[in-house]
This record gives sequence, C-alpha cells and structure tokens, in this order.
Amino acid sequence: MGKRKAAIENYISGRIRLYGDNILNSQEFGNTTDEVHHKHSSLEDHTLNVTIAGAKLCRRLNKMHIDVDEKDVIQASLCHDLGMIDRDEKYETDKDAWKQHPVESVKSARKLIPGMSKRAESIIMTHMWPICGERPRSKEAVVVSIADKYASIIDWTSYIFGHSYKRNIKRLIKARVRV
Ligand SMILES: [Fe+2]
Ligand SMILES: [Fe+2]
Repeated sequence: MGKRKAAIENYISGRIRLYGDNILNSQEFGNTTDEVHHKHSSLEDHTLNVTIAGAKLCRRLNKMHIDVDEKDVIQASLCHDLGMIDRDEKYETDKDAWKQHPVESVKSARKLIPGMSKRAESIIMTHMWPICGERPRSKEAVVVSIADKYASIIDWTSYIFGHSYKRNIKRLIKARVRV
C-alpha cells in the first residue's frame, strides 16, 4: 500500500474513533451486526460505509475550504440507522420503517451522545432525503444524505461483485473497539 493511501486510512479511522468511540463501544451499536440491511448487508457494515464515506467527504470539502463539521457528520452517521434495529418487530411495513426509523435513531443517539448538537439531530432526521422526509438543513446533513445513498450502492455492489469497501479502515476502526 502506498504511504499516502495508508496516511489517509489512518486519518479517517482516527477521526471516526475520536468522535465515535462511545457509540462504537455501545451495546446498541453491537446489535447492528445481527441486523440485516439492504437484503444482504449487515446494518453495521452499512453504517460503517456511510460513516467512512461521510468522513472522506468532510476531508475533501475542508481541503476545498468548505467548512464542514466532521464531529456532527461522524456521530450522526454512526447513529443514523440505529432505529432500524429489530425493524420487523417495530414497524408494520417497509414504508413505515423508512418514515419512522429516523425518529427512533435520534432517541438512541441522545442516549449515546451526551449533549448531542441540534444539528446532529437534524442530520439524522433528514438522512432519508430525497427518498422521503424533509430536506437537509445544513451542509453536514447533505453530506450524510449523499453518503447514505452512496453506501447503499456500495452495499449492493459488495454483494453482487463480492468486493469489500474500505476493508483496512474498518479493520482500524474495529481494532480499538472493546468487546
Ligand atoms: Fe436510514
Ligand atoms: Fe442508512
């Protein structure tokens, strides 16, 4: 692996651990490993795909002098789909799940992130845009909505073509997570 690529991977995993350790170490996040998402992925893998894509977008935008808050993007990304845990018991239909899970995700996020910002809450609430729900209210919310759609494509292509998105970064993130 090239030095530059390794440096970027270290940077991205380091930022995710810096702002997300609490969430990653929680029992609630642990429950994402057993929840199937997008038919063939785990909710954990989807969530990490969103968080990595979001953190990478922040890095790019900040380099372009577009000020984007990494902390809110990373924390909201890690929590955005927690409301999908046990979805079959919580929601009657897929449509109900799409519409209602952001509210449940915010409830979970409030427990895991003491003093969570209003912006982080709003990011979670609008992450389903433009499929459903209200439009994003901040640059950070646009980043997470885009990262979520991008990650959904990655979830499907990973299954169809058998590749693994950002395996090294995921390994680095999980290396710090206590069990
Ligand atoms: Fe979602
Ligand atoms: Fe998602």
